[in-house]
Amino acid sequence: MISKKMNLKKLQDSKKHYHKACSSGYFEGCLSKYEIPEKKAPANLVYRLIHDELSLDGNPTLNLSSFVTTWMEPEADRIITENVGKNLIDHFQYPQTQVIHDRIINMLGRLYNAPEDADFTGMACVGSSEAIMLALLAHKWTWKNCREKEKKAVDKPNIIFGSDAHVCWDKFAKYFDVEPRVIPMEPDRFTISRDTVEELIDENTICVGAILGTTFTGEMDPIEEINELLVNIKETKGWDIPIHVDAASGGFVIPFVNPELRWDFRLSHVKSINVSSHKYGLVYPSIGWLIFREKNNIPEDLVFYVNYLGEETPTYSLNFSSSSSMMLAQYYNLLRFGKEGYKEIMTLILENARYLATLIESSDKFDILNSAEFFPVVTVKLKQPANYTVFELSHKLRERGWILPAYTLPKNAENLSLMRVVVKENFSREMADMLFDDIMRACEILEGNKEEELEPEKSTDERHFIT
Ligand SMILES: Cc1ncc(COP(=O)(O)O)c(C=O)c1O
Repeated sequence: MISKKMNLKKLQDSKKHYHKACSSGYFEGCLSKYEIPEKKAPANLVYRLIHDELSLDGNPTLNLSSFVTTWMEPEADRIITENVGKNLIDHFQYPQTQVIHDRIINMLGRLYNAPEDADFTGMACVGSSEAIMLALLAHKWTWKNCREKEKKAVDKPNIIFGSDAHVCWDKFAKYFDVEPRVIPMEPDRFTISRDTVEELIDENTICVGAILGTTFTGEMDPIEEINELLVNIKETKGWDIPIHVDAASGGFVIPFVNPELRWDFRLSHVKSINVSSHKYGLVYPSIGWLIFREKNNIPEDLVFYVNYLGEETPTYSLNFSSSSSMMLAQYYNLLRFGKEGYKEIMTLILENARYLATLIESSDKFDILNSAEFFPVVTVKLKQPANYTVFELSHKLRERGWILPAYTLPKNAENLSLMRVVVKENFSREMADMLFDDIMRACEILEGNKEEELEPEKSTDERHFIT
């Protein structure tokens, strides 16, 4: 019972602790939040404190901002729980886990059409960011080794990618000291082109980055055209420049719904590909993959051998330890769905995304930038003039729990403010209808045509119930 008014200092101090909780048990004194508590506390109570506190988070089912999987089948959950304590790097102790890891590399290499005679290889990573860093580092090293053999300077490596790329590409350039040659967007072009790559390329280019499913608009860089350019450059100038395809979100979509699209190892200069399992691989975070066309795409001097886990283990990674769970969950999905299942799921997701795009377009309030032709991403901008912004709209929709990001595009196209819906496996037609209704109500409120707050639609059913 608070009998007296607390002074401000006391009140602030009291926020640094959990206080005695009710009903499920008590602990002595308070439980510190910012220092390791002196005493232990009952498990059930600690569970409840954390569980209840986390209910303040957004609802993952309504999180349409992120590509990340928020639901898996109960059997997959069991595999995850059973294996969460197995360290993936510990090949010697968990040899069968390693066998499964290698099977997935086989599956992905074949999915990405590695030529029959190619000795492809790869590895599980924390996510696409780690995969991209490792791929680009290998390409930098290959470039450096070639240049050194030819007794040429190695102090000015550069890498070409578009401003449509994810921030991990900029991170690579900064962390690994490579000049980023970033192709800007135009107000009406949000990917790179063959010509813009050609303008920037030279003998110090370690790699060209191309995106299959861009983060900003969900489009595709013209990978086949860029490959043609690089074939031509190799023939005319002798520079053998690889392409790394960032298929973080597209790598589990395109092969199943548009297998005829040529973006992968069918193209001779594509030497490495990354994909995130935790996006359309339909696995929870964190797991991604890096596949190299050939083993020798990883320079031998980047591979380390360690013997302290029981047997000499080669490692090419930024992180060492990680749980085996999500890798095994990916294996579960691959066996469970097969090509047929992935195709069905991806087709359904795309249909739901296109359905939502059609509804939104029909409202006449938005211009559609991407209506989910290839990727289940819908990007829209408000038709002008409008007396509110997509930021206000995004904020308003949060009242109902929907999480939809609003953002501006990078330099050159920064005047464009967009809203993006990433449609995932758990986003049904019914949810598309509910989201659309809420978007329309939110727009009306922001336009000033409706006063009330965003609330559930009124029942149109004739029967009414007294509650
Ligand atoms: C195209 C693209 N590349 C890379 C990444 C980074 O992936 P991760 O979160 O798996 O590190 C993302 C994440 O959204 C992405 O969309």
